[in-house]
Amino acid sequence: TWTIGNIAEEQIARIKEQIGETGRAICGLSGGVDSAVAAAIVTKAIGDRLTCVYVDHGLMRKDETEQIERDFVAATGAKLVVVDAEEQFLTALAGVSEPEAKRKIIGREFIRTFEKAQADIIAAAPEGTTVGFLVQGTLYPDVVESGHGSGTSTIKSHHNVGGLPEDMEFELVEPLRTLFKDEVRAVGAQLGLPQEIVKRQPFPGPGLGIRIIGEVTKDRLDLLREADAIAREELTKSGLDDTIWQMPVVLLADVRSVGVQGDGRTYGHPIVLRPVTSEDAMTADWARLPYELLERISTRITNEVKDVNRVTVDITSKPPGTIEWE
Ligand code: XMP
Repeated sequence: TWTIGNIAEEQIARIKEQIGETGRAICGLSGGVDSAVAAAIVTKAIGDRLTCVYVDHGLMRKDETEQIERDFVAATGAKLVVVDAEEQFLTALAGVSEPEAKRKIIGREFIRTFEKAQADIIAAAPEGTTVGFLVQGTLYPDVVESGHGSGTSTIKSHHNVGGLPEDMEFELVEPLRTLFKDEVRAVGAQLGLPQEIVKRQPFPGPGLGIRIIGEVTKDRLDLLREADAIAREELTKSGLDDTIWQMPVVLLADVRSVGVQGDGRTYGHPIVLRPVTSEDAMTADWARLPYELLERISTRITNEVKDVNRVTVDITSKPPGTIEWE
């Protein structure tokens, strides 16, 4: 009979076969469910001959880096290299407000950092072995979309992991290429990955960098992380996680409005909640969240997050609005 357990076992066996007794592999972790489950499967297959790389760009939400560093490793026993690149990213982003310029800088720094880590891993591999495999969390819908059938392919670049140097050739390992998203989540849960990772809603690669409207600074990131954590916590507590696609929380960093708190006048920043429902993110509708939930989020954010004195809800569909604000 067909079970999620069979799926995992089948993929583990297939990957053992593909990589062989001595092959070594690298896997980039993004914090998302696909790369985490792919890495967990490959770790089961080849143990510490897989090295996972997580680039901490400083643009993640509260606790997400710890979930990878601590909980993912505890659950899988995976060998993990964490590159702390926060300062590098923030320096590169200083003074930049334009959305596409931010995306380009984040993408460029990401590729640089990942390639450097990759080169270090290759250089450190035991003598006589080569690191010839790159693990990717490609899902079945991506396989179909890109028109590739079965079989393995070698690549020179991939948009998710970043362009690899011309002379570096890897064979791809794709443990999820027969699976749909819900099956990936089920396999992840079966392999004991933390709920926060398995159930995580979509989160953009550039992270909070494109949820701060204006320049990205450490202070602004910390502020947005607090507001976002409150919004997510209350959404989860209300049991409504599964009813929406995602809920970006956005900081209008260059806007201030007047408020009153305690005895005094304040002049703080607005936060925007952007809860949406969607099938595939191509189109979306604004989610009709219960007023009681919105009220709790608003009260907590304005009470607990310094310099935020207003919480607003975005009631625009896609189109005409995109899901993210940048
Ligand atoms: P938009 O804002 O275009 O977003 O309606 C559609 C979906 O894509 C995600 N998104 C991104 N994901 N890198 C990513 O990996 C990006 O630069 C990026 N921009 C948007 C967004 O969160 C939504 O799920």
